[in-house]
Amino acid sequence: MEQILILDFGSQYTQLIARRLRNLGVYCEILPFHSSAEEILKRAPRGIILSGGPSSVYDKKAPKPDFSIFNLGIPLLGICYGMQLMAHELGGKVRKAGKREYGLGRLKIRPGSKLLAGLPAEFNVWLSHGDEVKTLPRGFALKAGTKEIAAGAMESPGEKLYAVQFHPEVHHTEHGSRILANFAGNICGCRNKWSPVSFLPGALAEIKKTTSGAEVVCALSGGVDSSVAAVMVHRAVGKRLHCIFVDTGLLRHGDRERMKDVFSRKFGFNLTIADASKLFLSRLAGVSDPEKKRKVIGHAFIEIFEKEAKKIKNARFLVQGTLYPDVIGRSLKIPEAVLMQHPFPGPGLAIRVLGAVTAGRLEILRAADSIMRAEIEAAGWYGRIWQAFCVLLPIKTVGVMGDERSYENVLALRCVGSVDGMTADWSKIPHELLQKISSRIISEVRGVNRVVYDITSKPPATIEWE
Ligand code: XMP
Repeated sequence: MEQILILDFGSQYTQLIARRLRNLGVYCEILPFHSSAEEILKRAPRGIILSGGPSSVYDKKAPKPDFSIFNLGIPLLGICYGMQLMAHELGGKVRKAGKREYGLGRLKIRPGSKLLAGLPAEFNVWLSHGDEVKTLPRGFALKAGTKEIAAGAMESPGEKLYAVQFHPEVHHTEHGSRILANFAGNICGCRNKWSPVSFLPGALAEIKKTTSGAEVVCALSGGVDSSVAAVMVHRAVGKRLHCIFVDTGLLRHGDRERMKDVFSRKFGFNLTIADASKLFLSRLAGVSDPEKKRKVIGHAFIEIFEKEAKKIKNARFLVQGTLYPDVIGRSLKIPEAVLMQHPFPGPGLAIRVLGAVTAGRLEILRAADSIMRAEIEAAGWYGRIWQAFCVLLPIKTVGVMGDERSYENVLALRCVGSVDGMTADWSKIPHELLQKISSRIISEVRGVNRVVYDITSKPPATIEWE
């Protein structure tokens, strides 16, 4: 099968490269950066992409590929760190920048580029890097630059080597898909005929064959990724799949019931629900640092999951979900309510109760969250928002209710639009809807006397508050 390989140097965007290519109808796989040339040749890729990554080529432990990949005669595209690596290894120079650059730049392109063919002379690109290429290696031509970065793109078509300093895979780069399409189509000769649905029968057969005779375990969160992976594996192995759902006590109203409804009742899964809410709450007692909360939750989760998994005899395989499952999910007849749900972070409501987490504060947040979600759905806004949620602040303010003054919690509403969660903008939902959510929360949820709306984009803020 025609394919492009992506070598992963640790960029947060590596999965997005794969997603973009698959959207273009190009089959691709992600391999670790250190994969040997031999392994790569076995797959006979039409092209190789070197992803970005957080390292500098000068770091002692900088991830380096098998250098013979530069001489295989297979077209190569270096992105960000991938470009710096290409320059550094082929005799160019990389400049260590003083600070990381992050955000939009205006790219001006030079004529005669194969990679940037058919694009406007100037457009916006997304940059996120520390270093930049100062001197191109011999044989390379400079093909684009921004005001801040002279070497925005370089290529050596004779050697089939191409590189860009910016991120074509990120939504904010204009014409990013066209650049990847130029690479896959014009440079690598892929015919773009692959579709994610066509991948299903082969994948099911392979899962069946690989796991033959053994039991398979899956940590099912109910999110899109693990749900699609589990339904797929269930199709292939049926009752040999054992799903474990850990109820951390940090879930939203209705989450646990929905798990039972969809996976036990509709799909007939072997589903174990491990109720560990007491354990999570006791481990979280007094913990208010957000990263510490994440660690505590992560460790407790593994502990519970392992305990449950050990009870399954002959369990030899673990199901792991991944990105890009929605198209496949639709052909598996997974309910839209599961496929179209907003992302929900692993640490759950613990990072939305700011400061120390207690059962009482979780209950306040859960009640408010459920009202907000119901109103957003009723107003037809759910599908237009990437994430909508409440945050319980560790601040009390004065209010007046009837004749009495109150001294209660402030609750923040956060609704954002986003394409991939990397950047986001606050949603301009109607004032009437905000008003309805606010007055329902104040009158129905005890412990909240003030509601505020977060109007900050990402960057500079993040989506979650912790
Ligand atoms: P931020 O807050 O970094 O979030 O802008 C980007 C996306 O990631 C989610 N998020 C997390 N997901 N574990 C997760 O599984 C976490 O610790 C975590 N923190 C943030 C967030 O909800 C948003 O979708």
